[in-house]
Amino acid sequence: MGRNRKKKIIENVEITGIADKGKAVGRHDGRVIFVADAVPGDVVDVLIQKTKKGALIGKAIQLKKPSADRITPICEHFGICGGCKWQHLSYEAQLTHKQTTVENAISRIAKIPVGEIQPILPSEETAYYRNKLEFSFSNKRWLTEEEVQTGDKFPKRDALGFHRPGAFDKIVDVNHCHLLPEPSNAIRNEVRKFALENEYSFFDIREQEGLLRQLFIRITSLGEIMVILCFYYDDEEKRKAILDHLHQKFPEIISLLYIINPKKNDTVYDLPVKVWKGQPFITEELRHVKFKIGPKSFFQTNSKQAVRLYDTVVEFADFNGSENVYDLYTGLGSIACFVANKCKHVTGIEEIEAAIEDANENATLNNIENTTFYAGDVKDILNASFVEKHGKPDLIITDPPRVGMHKNVVATLLEVMAPKIVYVSCNPATQARDLQLLSEKYDVIKIKPVDMFPHTHHIESVALLVAK
Ligand SMILES: C[S@@+](CC[C@H](N)C(=O)[O-])C[C@H]1O[C@@H](n2cnc3c(N)ncnc32)[C@H](O)[C@@H]1O
Repeated sequence: MGRNRKKKIIENVEITGIADKGKAVGRHDGRVIFVADAVPGDVVDVLIQKTKKGALIGKAIQLKKPSADRITPICEHFGICGGCKWQHLSYEAQLTHKQTTVENAISRIAKIPVGEIQPILPSEETAYYRNKLEFSFSNKRWLTEEEVQTGDKFPKRDALGFHRPGAFDKIVDVNHCHLLPEPSNAIRNEVRKFALENEYSFFDIREQEGLLRQLFIRITSLGEIMVILCFYYDDEEKRKAILDHLHQKFPEIISLLYIINPKKNDTVYDLPVKVWKGQPFITEELRHVKFKIGPKSFFQTNSKQAVRLYDTVVEFADFNGSENVYDLYTGLGSIACFVANKCKHVTGIEEIEAAIEDANENATLNNIENTTFYAGDVKDILNASFVEKHGKPDLIITDPPRVGMHKNVVATLLEVMAPKIVYVSCNPATQARDLQLLSEKYDVIKIKPVDMFPHTHHIESVALLVAK
């Protein structure tokens, strides 16, 4: 291994693993190097960009020896677009690294005995597995290296696609995305074609001008399609023309909606959504439960794998039908509704009020009468008087966001002492931290990693805890 000091290039770095957030990692002179654009098993030359807490951070600039796990990415936008960063790694290798990440979190962070870490549950589908995507319009298309090399000016750079990571105003113009099933590509490409042919202006986020801002597409596993077109200002004639065109070309869109967003930022959750054609929601089905999904509803993005995740929750809970269950961080009540027919009662808590409205609607839609939902922060709502009112739980299901549970919530769980906890997590590191705290009074019987997001470093993991 040699070093070129001037250019800060370290040669022949062997990539040995994957660290937090999916970065490839190797070592040089005893120091850790985090390397972008590499996979475990590669030998690469690394351009060092910075150091952080003693570790070196850089990117691979030359592949000296490819890993045996490398494969050809299926996507023409791979490496430019920010999604699907692991498409060049075989799916088997992706699963191995996700499994290792969960095992490492337990051995290095939780440092507690675990009965069993089961093998990861792979996703049934590794392409077209999502039910929702958000595309942005921009008049600043991201130029490829080859285009930049030509020295040409490219005056017309309208694009519709994904944000280029690290360049908030640049958009990678997407021709085909392998995440959302058809007709998602056809819809996006038709919108772009119509807009270009009819000289619609694409948004310029720096200058805050341009008509077209965002395009949201949702397709459920029942084949129901929702499309939302977001404009910066209201130009009635142009709005009508593009929405009518979309309706005529894709009559299968059963929920065609639009939003006017005159704000500086892209958040649309605080804005009214107008119906152009059809209904204001679409329907998804997770095994025996139907969900009404509105334009602002959060929903698991991989529906098929969500069923298998919830099946794992049911398996770990091992219901006998008489349980009083709490479902913490319930979202729109999806786990609560999924398990309601297996227990006596479920009480769900979720901080977003609109999600709780959805949860109540979903319960009604499915004729579920044994659920109760509360809007609020779990750390404020779950306390001794709540438990007195709703009865001591036989089982607590908890599915917190990436930050894990607040330490006061963990402390409350240690006071409530439900005989069983099923902990669903989207971040093995914070789950391991919380398991360590809970191990004061609970044994961790088993953990099952579940892959919801192929080609990304994200991992879901379900743990069963039983009171000591
Ligand atoms: C990982 S999602 C789980 C949602 C649901 N269990 C599901 O499977 O779809 C986490 C949920 O927790 C909610 N949340 C985040 N922080 C919260 C808090 N402090 N109190 C209550 N809910 C919270 C989020 O709004 C989100 O709906």
